[in-house]
Parts: sequence; C-alpha cells; structure tokens
Amino acid sequence: MERDGDRAWCRWRSFAKITALTYIVPVICLSLVVVCVARPIYPLPSKISHNHRQPIQTSRPYNIAHRGSNGEIPEETAAAYMRAIEEGTDFIETDILCSKDGFLICFHDVTLDATTDIANHKEFANRKRTFEVQGVNTTGFFTVDFTLGELKELRVKQRFSSRDQQYNGKFPIITFDEFISIALEAPRVVGIYPEIKNPVFINQHVKWPGGKRFEDKFVETLKNYGYKGSYLSKEWQKQPVFIQSFAPTSLVYISNMTDMPKILLIDDATMPMQDTNQSFLEITSDAYLDYIKDYVVGIGPWKDTIVPVVNNYLQTPTDLVSRAHSHGLQVHPYTFRNDNSSLHFDFHEDPYQEYDYWINKVGVDGLFTDFTGSLHNFQEWTSPLSKDGHDDKTASELLNKISSLISSYKN
Ligand SMILES: *[C@@H]1O[C@H](CO)[C@@H](O)[C@H](O)[C@H]1NC(C)=O
Ligand SMILES: *[C@@H]1O[C@H](CO)[C@@H](O)[C@H](O)[C@H]1NC(C)=O
Ligand SMILES: *[C@@H]1O[C@H](CO)[C@@H](O)[C@H](O)[C@H]1NC(C)=O
Ligand SMILES: *[C@@H]1O[C@H](CO)[C@@H](O)[C@H](O)[C@H]1NC(C)=O
Repeated sequence: MERDGDRAWCRWRSFAKITALTYIVPVICLSLVVVCVARPIYPLPSKISHNHRQPIQTSRPYNIAHRGSNGEIPEETAAAYMRAIEEGTDFIETDILCSKDGFLICFHDVTLDATTDIANHKEFANRKRTFEVQGVNTTGFFTVDFTLGELKELRVKQRFSSRDQQYNGKFPIITFDEFISIALEAPRVVGIYPEIKNPVFINQHVKWPGGKRFEDKFVETLKNYGYKGSYLSKEWQKQPVFIQSFAPTSLVYISNMTDMPKILLIDDATMPMQDTNQSFLEITSDAYLDYIKDYVVGIGPWKDTIVPVVNNYLQTPTDLVSRAHSHGLQVHPYTFRNDNSSLHFDFHEDPYQEYDYWINKVGVDGLFTDFTGSLHNFQEWTSPLSKDGHDDKTASELLNKISSLISSYKN
C-alpha cells in the first residue's frame, strides 16, 4: 500500500515534469525526488486508478489551500498547488480570470502588475490601460488585453515583500485546465475550489462564440473533466469541488446548469456586492440567507466580519456563523495567514492558537489558508483521521466507551 502510494506519487511527479511543469524546483520535495530517481520511470497512465486513492476527508473542517501554498511559493502556480497537496490540503483554491482570446486562467487580480514580471516586458509597455473595475478606475496591465500565448511568456512573483522571494520569475501562469489536471493526477483525492472571479468585468471585456458567458465556459470546463454531483454525492466524493463567487447572480445563473456545491463569498462590510450592489447587512440578513440557501451550500466571509478586530485585538464575535448554520449553510472564512502582521495579538503570534479558536470556539466548517501545512499539522495533532483516511468519530467514540467499560471491570 505504502509502496503503491510512493509509486503513484512518482508517477504524478513525472506527469508533472512531462506536462510542461518542468520548472518545479527539486527543492520543493527533495526527499521524494530522491526516492523517485532511485526507481525506473514508469510509463504515464492516462489516469491513476481512483480505486486506490485515499478519499477526501469529510469529517473535520476543510483545509482549503488559498491560491496554493502561496505563503511559501508564488500564488496560483503549479508549484504552489503541488506544494499544498504535498502538505495535506483537502482543496486547492484558485481564482479564474480570462485571457483576451477567451482562455480561462488561474490568476487573482484583473491586472498583472502586482504578481508578475510584466514591468520587465518592454514589448508590452503600450498595453497599460485604465478600466473601471467594481466602480473604481484601475490602471495597469489587464489579463483581458493579453492572449494566452502572451500571458505564458510572463513569470509569477510573490505578492508579499515579507515572504520568500527565491521563486520569483520561475513559474508561469497556468490555465484552469492545467489546474484541474494537477488535482486529478494527485496521489490521493484532492478537491478543487475555483472562483468565478470578477464576472461582471470579464463579461464586459471578453466575448465567446455563440454568445456564451464566462459562467458558461467555467461550468463547461468543469463538466469536461467529469466534475458533477451535489455535495457529498458519490460523484462529488470522487472529484470534490466547490464553486465560489462574490457575485450571487453568477451562482444563481449556473444553478440550472449544475448541482455542484456553490459557496457565496462575502466581502468586507464596507464593500457592496459587485453585481447586485447589495450591502453587507443585506447579504448577511436572515431573509437573504433564507433565499440564497436554495442555491449555495455555504458562505465564505472575510474572517474579520465574523469576529471584528479593533487595534489588532479581537472583539465580540457576531452571530453570523450561528445564523448561517441555522439556515443549513456552511461557513468557510478567509484568509488565515502565519505572517506576524496578519495574526491578531490575542493569538500571541501563534497560528495554531488562531486555528484552535476558529475551529473549536467559533466552529467554522472550512478555512482558506495561505499556509496549508500549518493547518494540516494542527488538525493532525488535534483531530487525526483514522488510518484508511476515513474519519471514524463514531468508531473512536465506541472504542473509548469499550475501553472505559473494560477499565471499570478491572477495578
Ligand atoms: C473613470 O475615469 C473616467 C475617465 O476619466 C471618468 O469619466 C469616470 O467618471 C471615472 N470613474 C470613476 C468611478 O471614477
Ligand atoms: C431555471 O430553470 C427553470 C425551469 O426551466 C426556470 O423557471 C428558472 O427561471 C431557471 N432559473 C435560472 C436562474 O435560469
Ligand atoms: C449602490 O448602492 C449605494 C448605496 O445604497 C448607492 O449609493 C449607489 O448609488 C449604488 N450604486 C449603483 C451603481 O447602483
Ligand atoms: C513581523 O516581523 C517582521 C520581520 O521580523 C518585523 O519587521 C515586523 O515588525 C513584525 N511585525 C509585527 C506586527 O510584529
């Protein structure tokens, strides 16, 4: 079993190498590379058998690798996603935007400026433009002004200057298809968590044949790779997915196309919804949660709107989590970050204390984290899964009962 796992991992890594992901630096998992090198390279199977892959856990809050392990490696790159899988994530998360020629890409900002080397590409200097994005005039190099071929010439860099810069300039932007392949070829079942990003803006600037919308292309892509089924269905457990968006109209629009589970993202309390212009209070009201629960399985709020923060100290939590739960909605807040500047003083610069608070006191159902490895370690220490990958809370409870029964007889 273990050997098989190893071999699957080796195959996966050689797949990664073959499919133009060659730039994955060996540093990322030196030990595994050494193991792989010591063995013959096996021919690439079209798909690793699903039967032997460890299933996704569904019994403890989901570890959602926000833009991959972007705390370590530049965001939304193949390397960041593979690192997150290696570190134990349940879901790899991505933002889907578009190129000028209609390809779906994994990229967070509508402009390329903050996280690529676009500034070094003099041949593109004349592409700088100003567009209105969500009511704000934004100037920069927009993904929708570049073909996929041109975007592939760029290299991604770390967004935060306080983080490791050694991988800057090494990895290209990847497509939605490439992202999905990383999940499907992983040595265990790994879910995906793609966002329909800035749909209002994208539908304004990118046109597809037959009058198709961004949302149509997005769902089509998932279906092409076999994603289907409602939350926790058999199909879903085989290829787990959450579709997320800040635009409720996009989620409602696709509800007739697929029953894949959807998550409504909720921005900071000061931001109106990008499509409906609804306020935070409106979108988090009981009446609205009651409406949206027919379309989504949960909400993804900014964590400081659940527990407000003043002067870097936590304040009294709001009732958003309990109200969402009372409507049968999961809560997956974002974004958990180890960086000292992101940790509120209450946690004493200890990310494990933050996870303990959110999982055991607030009681959330999933966490978007920039540092998947830390969240995974915390969960393995505090609520380990049973060996076969299925959590067996009832089984372990039963065992506890039996052992206490036995010890009572011993007395
Ligand atoms: C953006 O700039 C244009 C052109 O200068 C201007 O007409 C428009 O009002 C601006 N929009 C916003 C939201 O500031
Ligand atoms: C979904 O389909 C039903 C039945 O065809 C229709 O009544 C409804 O308006 C559709 N909803 C959306 C959001 O397209
Ligand atoms: C959005 O709502 C705000 C607050 O109600 C309002 O001031 C603004 O004009 C609205 N914007 C649009 C584009 O409707
Ligand atoms: C975080 O760490 C950096 C680097 O050590 C330091 O410069 C900064 O002052 C720290 N910030 C806080 C809020 O502790």
